[in-house]
Amino acid sequence: MRYPGLLQTYKQYLPVTDRTPMLTLQEGNTPLVRADNLSAELGLDLYFKYEGLNPTGSFKDRGMVMAVAKAMEEGSRTIMCASTGNTSAAAAAYAARGGLNCIVLIPNNNIALGKLAQAIIYGAKVIAIEGNFDRALEIVREITAKHPITLVNSVNPYRIEGQKTAAFEVSDQLGKAPDYLAIPVGNAGNISAYWKGFKEYHALGRIGSLPKMVGFEAEGAMAIVKGEPIPEPETVATAIRIGNPASWKTAVAAAEESGGQINYVTDDEILAAYRMIASREGIFAEPASAASIAGVLKLKREGEFRGGETVVCVLTGHGLKDPNIAIKSVAAEPLVVPDSEAAVMDAIRKLEGE
Ligand code: F0G
Repeated sequence: MRYPGLLQTYKQYLPVTDRTPMLTLQEGNTPLVRADNLSAELGLDLYFKYEGLNPTGSFKDRGMVMAVAKAMEEGSRTIMCASTGNTSAAAAAYAARGGLNCIVLIPNNNIALGKLAQAIIYGAKVIAIEGNFDRALEIVREITAKHPITLVNSVNPYRIEGQKTAAFEVSDQLGKAPDYLAIPVGNAGNISAYWKGFKEYHALGRIGSLPKMVGFEAEGAMAIVKGEPIPEPETVATAIRIGNPASWKTAVAAAEESGGQINYVTDDEILAAYRMIASREGIFAEPASAASIAGVLKLKREGEFRGGETVVCVLTGHGLKDPNIAIKSVAAEPLVVPDSEAAVMDAIRKLEGE
């Protein structure tokens, strides 16, 4: 049977009415891949929720399909968001699908190439501001409050509703709730959504326990960890280069209620984890996503685990979103050689010697 998409699959848990269009690009239903090599090494039962395999390559599709379907139901003609890249790609795709106009505001020079390409090709009106994501979100809030334009950032509650379905999938795929759910934190919508999803599934008796929610900000953007907004956030993980998370309070509540924590990881830790999951597990996720596994490695060093715990790392976006970082971070352009067997054999020997 063809997978019918998120709204159809989870309609009983979502604000879907008989007037809600069943918009879909067959988002959701992403794999939960066991990290066999790293599980053995860390003494954990470690999994990746590979959200990069959504239709636009990130978890944002889950929330966006819900938000855009509701915008259509309400008769809206135009949606708008601020974005570090993935939200804009998802908004642009679902707007195209639903026949809506889409306006996206991005921080100039601080979004990954693949994400920019997506927003443009899906036909969004793309505006780059000389300012960061936080400023872009303020402007979008001001404009959408005054004009008949639907805001589709995660302050739109339908976004959180759609995104909570990932917690349902993780629970169903494992046959239980994990002991830990590790997740990158930027604007803090996703950690809030997962926690909502786990609590709802638990209340319905679909899972018998709840995970500890462990969220990781990038060190240069660790507003929640510091307890104050960061005016000029900076990190290699541009997706989470956010200094004043909109869902700050619900993220803190998720960590506190679950007995988890909001912690941080450095850019070096992010890039090391990013290379590690690619080279050890064959999984290519974007740098921000690797904050979840970098965080688990940090908790492991700090003695958080007894051993054998089930840990799910959410890999929020696909590695191909940001090809420049991949090439830069291994400092290896391909060797260029003449087109002869001898030259290729020489090159192989040289690379093996490295
Ligand atoms: N990982 C990726 C790949 C993201 O794109 C984002 C957020 C996050 C993690 C953090 O999720 O904001 O819910 O805490 N990206 C947003 C965007 C801000 O505009 O695409 P969050």
